[in-house]
Amino acid sequence: PIPLILDCDPGHDDVFALWLAAASPAVDLRAITTVGGNVPLEFTSMNARIACTVAGVEVPVAAGASGPLVKVLQTAEWIHGANGLGGPELPEPTVPLDDRDATTLMADVLAEASEPVAIVATGPLTNVAVFLRDRPELVDRVREVVWMGGSTERGNVTPYAEFNAWVDPDAVAIVLGSGVKFTMVGLNTTHRALVTSEVQARIATVGNRTAGFADELLDYFCHTNAEVFGLPDGPLHDPVAVAVLTDPGCITTVHTRLDVELAGTETSGATVVDFDGMLAREPNAHVAVDIDVPRFWNGVVDAVARLA
Ligand code: BDR
Ligand code: CA
Repeated sequence: PIPLILDCDPGHDDVFALWLAAASPAVDLRAITTVGGNVPLEFTSMNARIACTVAGVEVPVAAGASGPLVKVLQTAEWIHGANGLGGPELPEPTVPLDDRDATTLMADVLAEASEPVAIVATGPLTNVAVFLRDRPELVDRVREVVWMGGSTERGNVTPYAEFNAWVDPDAVAIVLGSGVKFTMVGLNTTHRALVTSEVQARIATVGNRTAGFADELLDYFCHTNAEVFGLPDGPLHDPVAVAVLTDPGCITTVHTRLDVELAGTETSGATVVDFDGMLAREPNAHVAVDIDVPRFWNGVVDAVARLA
């Protein structure tokens, strides 16, 4: 299995990413790090611990950056609720918060691993950027970074920016410039991972504690997505990035040129994907363009079934 660090900002869909990463035999989840994003860091850290507690996942959880590198943190309570996990009654977590900060935990995991470690990021890229910037001697211990964020098309917070990219575009630029293999799984792909009533029923039918909690999360998430975006079935973005590693055949990517808008007055955080090579720049990223939807949901359902 590929050794893996998950960097996240839970958030409903981040919880599913965490569960998929923890349960999949293709990866070995070594650590979870949290970032301010959907809600402030105190909540995302608490929620990661809760997601672990519910599902019986025991890996170190460490908190990282409370906000983006340059911009001021913008959160998404309108989708995820005031505490970031609207819907279910939240248990007191039994999984502790690690004493180390996120980048120290990342460094320790990389140093201890006998092979390069993958990082999947499902929130703003702040922690990953800080790590790659401040620990250059460890960059070649990073196998690759797979990120849920951006879009090859339009955005979900501004006409052209996706939320994770919009919160911290400067971090995206640093990660892109680091030379580490980078895969962007954007809205063009995740908007196809729709939680239909059929999908939700399959997850609920698994019948364990994780499934019950999942069902309540999905009720809330689909409701707010319907309210805010008019989408009857909520797109479960974040586990799609995990699937790039847990079931590579499920996601199709192309190697192309990706840049991020830092200066635009109307387009901050827009991801610019040059599929046609108009800019004549070297390809620097793998960009997800297709998903085998039934296969993706099979993976999520199997993961829930393997948990507590
Ligand atoms: C992304 O933004 C967050 O609200 C979700 O958790 C996901 O990571 C989708 O734009
Ligand atoms: Ca997220």
